[in-house]
Amino acid sequence: MTDLTKLEADLSALIAAAPDAAALEAVRDAALGKSGSISDLLKTRGAMSPDERRERGPLINGLRDRIGAAIAERKAELEAGELDARLAAEHVDLTLPPPPERRGRVHPTMQVQDEMIAIFAEMGFGLAEGPDIEDDFHNFTALNFPPKHPAREMHDTFWLPQDEHGERKVLRTHTSPVQIRTMQRTNQALPGWIANGPPNGGEPPIRIIVPGRTYRSDSDATHTPMFHQLEGLVIDRAIHMGHLKWTLETFIARYFETPLVETRFRPHHFPFTEPSAEMDVKCDRSGADIKIGQGDDWMEIVGCGMVHPNVLRTCGLDPDVWQGFAFGFGIDRLGMLKYGVPDLRDMFASDVRWLDHYGFSAFAAPNPATGLS
Ligand code: DAH
Repeated sequence: MTDLTKLEADLSALIAAAPDAAALEAVRDAALGKSGSISDLLKTRGAMSPDERRERGPLINGLRDRIGAAIAERKAELEAGELDARLAAEHVDLTLPPPPERRGRVHPTMQVQDEMIAIFAEMGFGLAEGPDIEDDFHNFTALNFPPKHPAREMHDTFWLPQDEHGERKVLRTHTSPVQIRTMQRTNQALPGWIANGPPNGGEPPIRIIVPGRTYRSDSDATHTPMFHQLEGLVIDRAIHMGHLKWTLETFIARYFETPLVETRFRPHHFPFTEPSAEMDVKCDRSGADIKIGQGDDWMEIVGCGMVHPNVLRTCGLDPDVWQGFAFGFGIDRLGMLKYGVPDLRDMFASDVRWLDHYGFSAFAAPNPATGLS
C-alpha cells in the first residue's frame, strides 16, 4: 500500500522546488493529472471494502485537497515573483532626458539672408520685395538696358512664352527691378503708379534692401540656374560714393566679424549705375579657408555704383535733386565664403546629409541683440 505520508512529503518538496509555472504544471500533472499518483489512489477506492474505504478514503481525499491547495499557493507565489521581476526590468526612469529627436535645419542661404537683414536693419534699411516673374520693362528697360543692347544677353535670361498680350515675361535675372518698383511707388506724382501698387506717398529718402530669388540659365561650381541676391538702394539729397563705401565696409566688417576690413573699388560697367564698380575685399586664400582682412589677395564681393540719372528720370525723380547709390550681393556666394561651402550646386541639391552638416539650428536665428550666428 502506498505510503501517503511519504507521497505527500515528496510532492510537497517538488512543489516547493518548482522554479517556474511550467515545472509546477509538470508536478501537478504527475500528481493530479489523468494518471497522476493521487488520481490513481482515488481510483482504488472503488475496490476497497467499506471499512477500508471509511478509514482510507478521507486520508486520500485530504491528501488530494492539500496538494491541490499547495500547488495553487505556489502558483500564486511564482506569478507574483514574475510580476516583480518584470516591474524591476521594465522600470521607466522619468528623470532621464528623452532620446534625441531628428529636427529640420535652417538652410545656410536663409541663415545668411537673415544675418544680412539683421545687419542692414541695424543700419536703418527697410525691407522690400518684388515678383520673381518680371516684365521686360522692370528687369531691363527701366534699368537703362537699351533695347536690343548686348547687355540683355549678358544675363542668360529665362524667357517665358508669349502671353495673350504678346508680351514675354522673364524670370528676373537680378533683384534690381525692385529698385524701380520702390522708386515708382515712393514717387506719388508719377502717372501709372497704379500698376505698381499704391504709392507710399511723398518723396525720398529711400533706404531699402531687397533679398530674393533670381534666375539665369547657367550651371557650374559657382553658378546655379536659381540663386539669391540682396539688392540695396539709397536715394536722398547729396548722396555720394563715400556713403556707398562706408555702408559696404561697415556691412562687411559686421558680417565677417572682423574690424580688419580693407576694400578697393574696381571700375566696372552696369547699365543702371554711373559710375559703376565692383568692390573687392582683401583676404588670405593660402589655406583651406578664406580669411577676410588678412593676406594680400583680393576677392570680388559686391557690384555697386551711383544710380544712373536715366533710371532716376524713368522713376520720376529729378537727378538734379536726388542722387543715390545701389549695390547687389550674391547671398549664396557670401554664405559659401563665410561657412566654407566649396560648390554652389550642393546648396540646392536637397541632400539631407549636407543640410545636417551645413544647416543651422532654428534656435540660432540671427538678431543684433543676441549675435548673428
Ligand atoms: N544687378 C547686378 C547683377 O545682377 C548686381 C548689381 C550691380 C546691383 C550693381 C546693383 C548695382 O544694384 O548697383 O549682376
